Amino acid sequence: MITNTELEYKGDLYPSKIVSFEYEVDSVNFYTDNKVILRVTILRDSLLRFRFTTKGYFSKDFSYAIDKSHSHGYNHLAVKEETEYYEILTSKIKCHIKKSDLRITIYDLNDTIILQDELGFHWEENYEFGGNIVKTTKHAQEGECYYGLGDKATQMNLKGKRLENFATDQYAYQKDQEPLYKSVPFYIGLHNKQAYGIFFDNTFRSFFDFCQERRNITSFWAEGGEMNYYFIYGPEVKEVITTYTDLTGKPELPPLWALGYHQCKWSYYPESKVKEITSKFRELKIPCDAIYLDIDYMDGFRCFTWNKDYFPDPKRMVAELTEEGFKTVVIIDPGIKIDPNYWVYNEALEKDYFCKRADGPYMKGKVWPGECNFPDYTNPEVRQWWAGLFKELISEIGVKGVWNDMNEPAVMEVPNKTFPMDVRHSYDGNFCSHRKAHNIYGMQMARATYHGVKKFSYPKRPFVITRSAYSGTQRYTSSWTGDNVATWEHLWIANIQVQRMCISGMSFTGSDIGGFAEQPTGELYTRWIQLGVFHPFCRTHSSGDHGNQEPWAFDEEVIDITRKFINLRYQLLPYLYTMFWQYIEDGVPMLKPLVYFDQDDIQTHYRNDEFIFGNQILVCPILEPNAVGRRMYVPRGNWYNYWTNEYIAGGKEVWVDTKYDEIPVFVKAGAIIPKYPIQQYVGEIEFDELTLDIYYFEGKEKSQVYEDAHDGYDHRKGRFSYLSFQTTGRPKDLIIQLHKEGKFETPYTKYRINLIGLPFKVTGIEIDNAPTVFDVSTFENVLIIPKEFNSLRIIGE
Ligand code: GLC
Repeated sequence: MITNTELEYKGDLYPSKIVSFEYEVDSVNFYTDNKVILRVTILRDSLLRFRFTTKGYFSKDFSYAIDKSHSHGYNHLAVKEETEYYEILTSKIKCHIKKSDLRITIYDLNDTIILQDELGFHWEENYEFGGNIVKTTKHAQEGECYYGLGDKATQMNLKGKRLENFATDQYAYQKDQEPLYKSVPFYIGLHNKQAYGIFFDNTFRSFFDFCQERRNITSFWAEGGEMNYYFIYGPEVKEVITTYTDLTGKPELPPLWALGYHQCKWSYYPESKVKEITSKFRELKIPCDAIYLDIDYMDGFRCFTWNKDYFPDPKRMVAELTEEGFKTVVIIDPGIKIDPNYWVYNEALEKDYFCKRADGPYMKGKVWPGECNFPDYTNPEVRQWWAGLFKELISEIGVKGVWNDMNEPAVMEVPNKTFPMDVRHSYDGNFCSHRKAHNIYGMQMARATYHGVKKFSYPKRPFVITRSAYSGTQRYTSSWTGDNVATWEHLWIANIQVQRMCISGMSFTGSDIGGFAEQPTGELYTRWIQLGVFHPFCRTHSSGDHGNQEPWAFDEEVIDITRKFINLRYQLLPYLYTMFWQYIEDGVPMLKPLVYFDQDDIQTHYRNDEFIFGNQILVCPILEPNAVGRRMYVPRGNWYNYWTNEYIAGGKEVWVDTKYDEIPVFVKAGAIIPKYPIQQYVGEIEFDELTLDIYYFEGKEKSQVYEDAHDGYDHRKGRFSYLSFQTTGRPKDLIIQLHKEGKFETPYTKYRINLIGLPFKVTGIEIDNAPTVFDVSTFENVLIIPKEFNSLRIIGE
């Protein structure tokens, strides 16, 4: 039998030749004689957008990913006509569009090909749903490598892989399993020392094939929507990522406590259990800032309610926890229990806010509370209503953060684990089916949650965490990598996933430390916390099905090592906060894979394990049991072993001995690392000194320290302090120059300076060119000086 689809299938269709073109300010439309139009928009000299239609006109331009405040505005677009192609030239790149078939080639100004279409844009008509399956194929250049795409559980370099973007609840996922919770259709290509990026802003299920199907061809396609992508020229990986992050948006600064340690489990209840956990942290002197309540705090899993048997007086409990320095974070899922006696359900029903099936009935699906309806967060009115629901939790009860889960959206007991594809969405007035809205559902939920938490926390800063995300979600929330497993392989995955999220615009991410499913051994937990303290978001979480996962669930040694590493995180808070500042200001990823750090060194192109924490600390986790050290690549440059202060020149693979209570950590020579004293929670103690660990280097290096009130919005009025240090090391002296910006006065008045690696014995110290008096015979390379100085010179002999 011949099916309808076979009858009508025409195979792939291609644009035909260009017949005319027309300017529109920063864009140019190329018209063909088969209704295909290509619109090229120049946003910046290094940022081009390519948008194709096959209908003869463009539909309304709408994107959830693009941040309205992204920098653009190009006013000298000129198209030059050549025999075979049209040329668009900017100050960074040259773009050729072939007259015969719209194929695109992009060159740098030295005529090196950066990216070249193979078949270029083509499509297949979708008879089942309407619209097209839109496709693009590109040539891969010699030695080309690929990075990005969000939370993929695979090697850092994506060459040779096919990946899929369709947000999916993937409990206990495996290495290489696809797709996962997030959809970030953005990748970075690197060849011939030049990097570029592609952001395929299409929310339908999409695929990327990096030379898997055909060795030298890279392609991407989506099951609907437009072929609509941005090309970002580097040539530095850094520029590609910062441009992408500018385009899709940056978050606001989180409150500093959110960078502390978080403890979570499914579930801590009743109240006495919660208190037992928090007290134990204080008793054992393991710093902790946040405690989480998972679904059991609710009354029958009804969002915005409390189980009064377990939590008779949430307001009192939250206040008592606050007294002890704990911020309470609660989970809120999208599924609203179908229950006529439940106010949230009734309100949404009355206002007609739930998602509907194609033929009218509300979308019904099972989640934790049983049968639920689901708000359509793609409707702005629904988002506003949802934001308002947080009033009691935040303003009255005093909850400080909200955790959005199951927002892929996840539905239980159905084969596709999510909504049927016919479900309708408002999509901010661009009505569509779930095929188009699926990948942004979680993002829009987190967006609404963020607005609610922010509204009621103000003038304090909000904290939100989400499991599902699409490009741009970083504007609203942090995230975690979902339901991982307590295995060594998952520790390897977590390390790469968090680095990859960082280079995909979403730095504020962490994994469930110790693994969510199953039970880690003490050793695995130890190795995981040793890595986790170097992740932007640091939280232990577990399903609780297989035992406890607090540090004291293991032996004394594990407790001590956990304390040591969480202490280190708390000491490094000013460094971490500065990393965050650089992320929100410039879009710089908080963790940098080695390829980012040194793209010209091909040794870095396939590295997975080592990464740079901030700008100056190199970290490499231990990923195997019984390790007494490991081999690792130390990138080019000069480094100090953090534990021994031994000096090492990079650019080579080395064996690093590590004890059980260490992982390889190196500090870049010349760096100044700021440190706070250890606190049990952010703001616990007032202190008068900021420690600066200064690592001598014969040469120059720059370091920064960002400070503000650690919460609130005064920093936006200039009440921040940004310290820029420059160290200059010479054989017989070390000069530290300091430049300060901003109006914030830090509570501390002095710096405690630790001089590390000086090649000379100190005989003199000058502050702002004036000699200071000190006892040379007892001087041990530590000095305390007032914070107001412009230059400090350490003189030796
Ligand atoms: C999901 C989440 C997990 C949470 C659980 C119960 O599995 O990923 O973090 O603990 O649901 O809410």
